Amino acid sequence: MTARSAIRRLRPVPSDAEGYDAETVLAAALRALGRDRLVLSASFGPEDIVILDLLSRIEARPRVFTLDTGRLPNETYELIERVRRHFDVAVEVYVPDASAVEAMVRAKGVNLFYASIEDRLRCCEVRKVAPLRRALATVDGWVTGLRREQAPTRARTPKISLDLEHGLIWKVAPLADWTEAQVWEHIRANDLPYHALHDRGYRSIGCAPCTRAVDPGEDPRAGRWWWEAPESRECGLHVRHAELRKESKR
Ligand code: ADX
Ligand code: SF4
Repeated sequence: MTARSAIRRLRPVPSDAEGYDAETVLAAALRALGRDRLVLSASFGPEDIVILDLLSRIEARPRVFTLDTGRLPNETYELIERVRRHFDVAVEVYVPDASAVEAMVRAKGVNLFYASIEDRLRCCEVRKVAPLRRALATVDGWVTGLRREQAPTRARTPKISLDLEHGLIWKVAPLADWTEAQVWEHIRANDLPYHALHDRGYRSIGCAPCTRAVDPGEDPRAGRWWWEAPESRECGLHVRHAELRKESKR
């Protein structure tokens, strides 16, 4: 996108957004950008389900996409189907570029992520980050389930910000100040569908080979890329790979 078209599309973020509750954040984003240009990015963790529920109360059949890395647990695919039926939404599924995956696994093997942080980030780049760029090229704003208490890397997540990485579109995190307990209260109170692995000790779920269950007292994200140091446990959707490499070398 040229600088001029980015500026033309620029919609100022409300200066008082930090004071909004989740419903008000979503209503403001829908009002500013319109239903067709705002999309929920969902891995179908409980946060994404809560957001889909709140969005659906304001706008019938909101847009939602998921990045299917090709390495998701089967329970995630089962949940996608349940979500489609429950909310009557069409889930836009983005898959990685086939030739990029083929070249990567030919050079490095199918399970390259365990070898080094470089290889792990390479896999995340091919399977998640590049498809995310394609998905976001179709919108003026994206909604994510990020919460500040999830990780130090997320502690300053704004409720609405301009996403410089993806062409100055809005990045919206309506649950930024929610706790995990609040999320689950909403799921249970509204009898919403949720991932089957949550009942088997998983707290945060991504790709099958890079996710495991955690013990009750452990950090909820300790099961993601558990073989790496905590500072690098992001996949590049929200924190740039350059930042993660820097952190991992400290
Ligand atoms: S991750 O970067 O470590 O994988 P996490 O699982 O905590 O992220 O999810 C945070 C938010 O990132 C989700 O609420 C969702 O908005 C987005 N997200 C994560 N994974 C995906 C995915 N596979 N497809 C679409 N959005 C995703
Ligand atoms: Fe690859 Fe693991 Fe990243 Fe999934 S989470 S894209 S399998 S490295």
